[in-house]
Amino acid sequence: MGLYFAKFSAFGSYAPAKILTNQDLEKMVDTSDEWIRTRTGMVERHIASKEEAASDLAYQAALNAIEASQVRYKEIDLIIVATISGDYPFPSTACIIQHKLGLKNIPAFDISAGCTGFIYACDVARQYIENGIARHILVIGVEIVTKITNWTDRNTCVLFGDASGAAVISRSEPTDISRIIDTKIDADGSQGNFLMQAAGGSRLPASHETVDANQHTVYMEGNRIFKNAIKSMYASSDELLRRNNLSPADLDWVIPHQANLRIIKALADKMKVPMSKVIVNIQKYGNTSSATVPLATDEAIRSKKIRRGDIMLLTSFGAGLTWGSVLARY
Ligand code: ACO
Repeated sequence: MGLYFAKFSAFGSYAPAKILTNQDLEKMVDTSDEWIRTRTGMVERHIASKEEAASDLAYQAALNAIEASQVRYKEIDLIIVATISGDYPFPSTACIIQHKLGLKNIPAFDISAGCTGFIYACDVARQYIENGIARHILVIGVEIVTKITNWTDRNTCVLFGDASGAAVISRSEPTDISRIIDTKIDADGSQGNFLMQAAGGSRLPASHETVDANQHTVYMEGNRIFKNAIKSMYASSDELLRRNNLSPADLDWVIPHQANLRIIKALADKMKVPMSKVIVNIQKYGNTSSATVPLATDEAIRSKKIRRGDIMLLTSFGAGLTWGSVLARY
């Protein structure tokens, strides 16, 4: 039990202007609009321009979230960025954001947990708030997966899009209705090789051979991940509900990772939550990795679906393999 409680003060999001449709993809690889729609639920996705890097997208989402939170820039105590496609291997994208926001003398770091990154970042932020070390934390999920995509591999290139989502997580005052009730994160490193970027690190440094072999792009064994996704998101969500004496019927909203509509529907079915309570925007953005959950949450708040006091469950899974959930009263 910490000294304080944490809450989501506000969310923000951003997607680059350029849109790539299923019809555009039909011209690039051997695929069809029908296959993509029925197998994934995706219709179009946003693609960053040549000039845009992760921190450019993250900065826009951060501005939106900070504005909505009414927290002053100078009050932010920590920046955490979840990404696997940052501007550079180092320095961290969080440090770049700190500089872009004109902030100094606050810590900033990245988290690498694939599509679960935002959930991991919320779990970490919650500890800093509950221990009284920080009062306001900027948490961002940002991804430009399309720049590490193999555009000749139809198994993966139809799936990803670029976007960012951010939240300001703050200390919850005794009068606040909003509160992060609980978080749960998990990992299974034995399955890491099902979803990875093989080259560019110390195992396989960049060389002409690694570039020629497309080893700097996303490698994924989709159907192995598929089964794991449903099982793992269910496990962390079920544990959170049980240990807080809540049932799926108590949830106003479930905001799952947007990787595949069939995964989302199977999860809802397993949890016995009607799809009317599940936030879905995969048709517009595809899989934006660590950005999907904050992006979908932000859209649902701005369209007045999610309201203050609603109980929401955020859940995701991804590279690592990693998975986790956040249970919160918005
Ligand atoms: N167009 C047409 N056909 C295709 C395409 C395509 N774009 N992609 C694959 N196919 C074909 C395959 O070649 C295969 O053909 P075959 O039977 O002749 O060999 C057939 O479709 C079925 O392939 P599967 O891989 O079994 O298809 P599946 O139904 O599993 O769907 C998908 C694939 C969409 C990738 C699914 O497995 C999935 O969503 N997996 C989870 C992905 C995920 O969530 N990843 C984690 C997050 S990503 C991150 O952390 C960065």
